[in-house]
Amino acid sequence: MQIQVGIITISDRASAGDYADLGGPALKAAAQKAGWQVLAEAIVPDDAKRIQDTIRSFSKQRCGLILTTGGTGIAARDVTPEAIRMIMRVELPGFGEVMRAESMKITPNAILSRNLAAVVDDSLVIALPGKPSGAVECLSFVQDAIPHGVALAQATPTSC
Ligand code: MTE
Repeated sequence: MQIQVGIITISDRASAGDYADLGGPALKAAAQKAGWQVLAEAIVPDDAKRIQDTIRSFSKQRCGLILTTGGTGIAARDVTPEAIRMIMRVELPGFGEVMRAESMKITPNAILSRNLAAVVDDSLVIALPGKPSGAVECLSFVQDAIPHGVALAQATPTSC
């Protein structure tokens, strides 16, 4: 099964052009290395409605996997987990648990990320931290569960 991916960078400053988006390209490279096809990319501000609309639009475009980077921390504008929880069908707590636990072996600041995964419409959505290296690290910790998770989110019959 070819996994089709949408990547959303969530950052007020990157979306305003104040600095270059490094997280999106880092995730794109990781996705391509995994053999996945990147179908759609966007940079949006830390705004719940914009985040939700982009996730839903990418799901409609048949992105079985949607990766977000940014807005998982505790800054006043960090709303990514709340935005996703408002539109999700189910949350998959294991993803956040593993990402935080494994990341704690790299940096104690990992506990400040509210990483999560959820099913929204027909897509598996994974919210990763904003730091490009952190986003790629977190993705690597859960990568092996992604094909089956995407198949289940898309209700594709699978062998287990
Ligand atoms: N996870 C990993 N693996 N590596 C990191 O460098 N940075 C942390 C954390 N998770 C980090 C990480 C930091 S410093 C913060 S503040 C939180 O993610 C939240 O980041 P965000 O608000 O940019 O999403």
